[in-house]
Amino acid sequence: MSFSILSTGRALPRTVLTNEQLCRFVDTTDEWIRSRTGIAQRYVCMEESLTDLAAQAARNAMQRAGVEASDLDLILCATISSDYITPSLACTVQEALGASCPAFDISAACPGFLFALDVADGYFARGKAKRILVVAAEAMSRLMDWRDRSTCVLFGDGAGAVILGPGDGLRSLLLQTQGRAEVLYVPATRGNLPGRATGAKSYAVMDGQEVFKFAVTAMCRGLRHAIREAGVAEEEISWVLPHQANLRIIEFAMSKMKIPPERFLINIDRLANTSAACIPILLDESREQGKLKKGDLLAMCAFGAGLTSASAVIRWDAD
Ligand code: ACO
Repeated sequence: MSFSILSTGRALPRTVLTNEQLCRFVDTTDEWIRSRTGIAQRYVCMEESLTDLAAQAARNAMQRAGVEASDLDLILCATISSDYITPSLACTVQEALGASCPAFDISAACPGFLFALDVADGYFARGKAKRILVVAAEAMSRLMDWRDRSTCVLFGDGAGAVILGPGDGLRSLLLQTQGRAEVLYVPATRGNLPGRATGAKSYAVMDGQEVFKFAVTAMCRGLRHAIREAGVAEEEISWVLPHQANLRIIEFAMSKMKIPPERFLINIDRLANTSAACIPILLDESREQGKLKKGDLLAMCAFGAGLTSASAVIRWDAD
C-alpha cells in the first residue's frame, strides 16, 4: 500500500519584490533577469515567519481534505531555510496546528518535497499512518547575500502542502544524490569559541553554470526514468511539474521530451525559485485553476544542492 494525494494547499508572503524594485539595490536589470531566467518577480517574507507560511499552506490543505489536526499521524516538512536550526520546522508547524503526531524535517534542498514523499511512502507501506501532512516551505530570501546579483535574483519564498492518505496514486519515485558540496552551499553558523576562525556568513554560494549543466541533464534523465518506471509512455503524461529554477532549463527539457510543451506547468515568472516548495505550490495552483482531472498522470522532477535530484509519477486521485 502506498499513498494518494487527497488535497493540496499553499501560502505566499504578502510582499512582492519585482525585478524593477530589485534593480534599486542590486546591480542588475529587468531585461537580464527575464531573458536569462524567465523571472519577473518573487515573494519575500518581510513580516511572516516560515512557520506562519507553512502552517497556512497546511491549514488550506487540511480544510480541503476535511482533516483535523488530531487526524494527522505524521508531519513531514521539507526545507533548508527553517526559522530555527533546531527545533525543526515540522515541530513549529505541529505546534501552530495544535497537532500531536510525530513531526520531523527532510533536508534535501530543492527536491526535498519528493524526498519527503518517499519517506511518507515508507510509512504507508508499513501501515503506520492513515493521514500524513507533507509541507515544503522555504524562506530563501534569508539565505541570500543581497549584494550578490548572481544568486539573489533567482529565489523567492513560499509554501506548499499536501495531505496524503492510503492509496495507489504513487506510480514511481526515484531519488539520487551526488555528494558535491562545492557547487552550491550555504555555510553553517560556527559559534563563537575564542580562537576559532569565523567570519563565514550564512549566504548561498553557487557556481551557476555547473548547476545549470547538472540541472539540464538531471531534468530530462529524471523525467524519463520516472515515466519508464511507472510503465507509461511519455505521451501519456498529462502534466509535467518541473522544478522552477530557470525557464531555460525547463525549455531544454520541453525540447527533448515527447511531451507537448503546453503540458509543462510554469510559475517561475511570478514566484522565482522557491526551492522545495516549487512543486507543491504548482500542484495547488493547477488544482485551483481546474487543470487537474481525476486520473491525470503527473510527472515531477527537481534538482538542487547536494547535489540531489528526484523524479516521480503520481496519478491525481482527488476530485
Ligand atoms: N544581472 C546582470 N548581470 C549578471 C547577473 C545579474 N543578476 N548575474 C550574473 N550576471 C553577469 C555575470 O557577471 C556575467 O558577466 P561577465 O560575462 O561580464 O562576467 C554574465 O552575466 C554572464 O554570467 P553567467 O553566469 O555566464 O550567466 P548564465 O547565462 O549562466 O546565467 C544563471 C546565470 C541564471 C545563474 C544560470 O547559470 C543558472 O540558472 N544556473 C542554474 C541555477 C540553478 O538552477 N540554481 C538553483 C538550483 S538549486 C536550488 O534550487 C536550491
